[in-house]
Amino acid sequence: MGLPTPDTRHISRPEYASVYEPAEDTYLLLDALENDRTELQKQQPTICVEIGSGSGCVAAFLGQLLDPLPTLIISTDINPAAVDATMETVARNPSRAVFLQCRTRFLQSLDSRLRGSIDILVFNPPYVVTPTAEIDSTDEASAWAGGKHGREVLDQLLPQIPQLLSPSGRFYLVVIEQNKPDDIIQALSVHGLSGERILSRKAGREHLSILRFIFNGA
Ligand SMILES: C[S@@+](CC[C@H](N)C(=O)[O-])C[C@H]1O[C@@H](n2cnc3c(N)ncnc32)[C@H](O)[C@@H]1O
Repeated sequence: MGLPTPDTRHISRPEYASVYEPAEDTYLLLDALENDRTELQKQQPTICVEIGSGSGCVAAFLGQLLDPLPTLIISTDINPAAVDATMETVARNPSRAVFLQCRTRFLQSLDSRLRGSIDILVFNPPYVVTPTAEIDSTDEASAWAGGKHGREVLDQLLPQIPQLLSPSGRFYLVVIEQNKPDDIIQALSVHGLSGERILSRKAGREHLSILRFIFNGA
């Protein structure tokens, strides 16, 4: 039987008005993670990170997916309301995991300590193609505005991925076709990471995919 989607009903409250509500992209990511559940449990991950946690739905789901493994799940977001919402979501959806929420850009201030240590890294970035001026705000637009090719936020993180992952680490990324997924796979292959589309779905006008990256030979 599938795992339940975490309870995020509190996101409808006004204080969370600027928080990204779980949508098709979120659910596709949950499905991809659930499809990999056996492998992920076998991997015995100790440090998992979600960048851009929004409602906290994915972080809470990861906790349930990895239960009963003792896991640290760190989530970050630039939107303070999203950090609060994530905190409430993980409290409402308990698991054995220990959760840590940080308001920061990507993994700023944590990255040097996490270097080579992240077993599961997850990012559902702002991927919509928009004018550059719309990216990196701290309001609702930060949830979806991705700038040119919808890649301007993601491209700030990509070069750090190979250094952040542990040798058996995995990186799960949500993309749409306009983000040029094959270019992303090519860019990370230069650093020894092998990437593939593991799940795709059409949602309205968006053609969503989940890319999964692991080190060659891992
Ligand atoms: C598409 S939403 C995904 C939310 C949630 N992970 C989900 O799947 O439903 C993108 C999230 O990334 C956050 N974000 C945007 N730029 C960021 C950055 N540079 N560092 C951390 N979080 C960021 C936004 O505030 C938003 O919560």
